[in-house]
Amino acid sequence: MMICPICHHVLMRELNSYTCIHKHSFDIAKSGYVNLWPGNHKGSGDDKEMVKARTLFLNTGHYQLFQQTLIDLTTNLKPSVLADVGCGEGYYTNVLENCLDACDVYGFDVSKSALQHASRQNSRIHYVIASLSDLPLSDESVDVITDVFAPVDAQSFHRVLKQDGFLIKVGPGRQHLLEMKQVLYDKVYENDDAVAEYDGFAHAKRIVKTQQIELTSNLEIRSLFQMTPYYWKSPKQSAGKLKAMDDLPLTTQFCFDIYKRK
Ligand SMILES: C[S@@+](CC[C@H](N)C(=O)[O-])C[C@H]1O[C@@H](n2cnc3c(N)ncnc32)[C@H](O)[C@@H]1O
Ligand SMILES: [Zn+2]
Repeated sequence: MMICPICHHVLMRELNSYTCIHKHSFDIAKSGYVNLWPGNHKGSGDDKEMVKARTLFLNTGHYQLFQQTLIDLTTNLKPSVLADVGCGEGYYTNVLENCLDACDVYGFDVSKSALQHASRQNSRIHYVIASLSDLPLSDESVDVITDVFAPVDAQSFHRVLKQDGFLIKVGPGRQHLLEMKQVLYDKVYENDDAVAEYDGFAHAKRIVKTQQIELTSNLEIRSLFQMTPYYWKSPKQSAGKLKAMDDLPLTTQFCFDIYKRK
């Protein structure tokens, strides 16, 4: 299933490493993930602080409805191999693995900090540092790819999916975090939620889930803010205003798009 990122031959699991026929060897870290991304990619993906913020926010349970929706859509497809790409700290990966029967679950991310956290939570999942554009998996070996708020690489996903495989892409709905944007910007635009088209995939269905929530502490507000792209591109003054708030009623809205591999 997993292939060597250097020579692309199958990797065999040894006690504390994965090794290919050409003796390229990759150690499994103490926490349980393996780095299959050759080269120096220091500082790639989300850093420790971002991982901490996202863990804190996700643990509040505000996104539980979305987690459950993803579980329902995924279990329905009965995968025996699932790859969660851009899996972060495994908030979705972990519950998916718990809810799927006899399924080999992989989580890929470029962030070492995220995978250190993820792999401590569930040792049955194969957590791998790798780019979703160059997944170290054999061709046509995966039933379902889940991609939650991470980039899409249609060519890479097409290669690793079985011929009857599916991609479940999750992204923000039109109104997602509207009230947060109203604090940050004078003129607020809704998110673009047009269904993306990907070469090699046919869009099968979309489900939109909306939930009104209320953030009732400054820490929750700051943590969610740090998870968003607005954290990096908001004017300092309005970011300061948001960071000082203790209460924020908020619309959360996710689009779940299911694509069938062609
Ligand atoms: C917004 S976070 C979403 C994390 C997780 N899916 C969740 O929703 O909690 C996006 C994640 O994608 C990862 N990422 C970004 N570019 C990537 C790439 N090319 N390959 C793999 N992971 C990537 C980041 O490190 C980050 O963990
Ligand atoms: Zn090799």
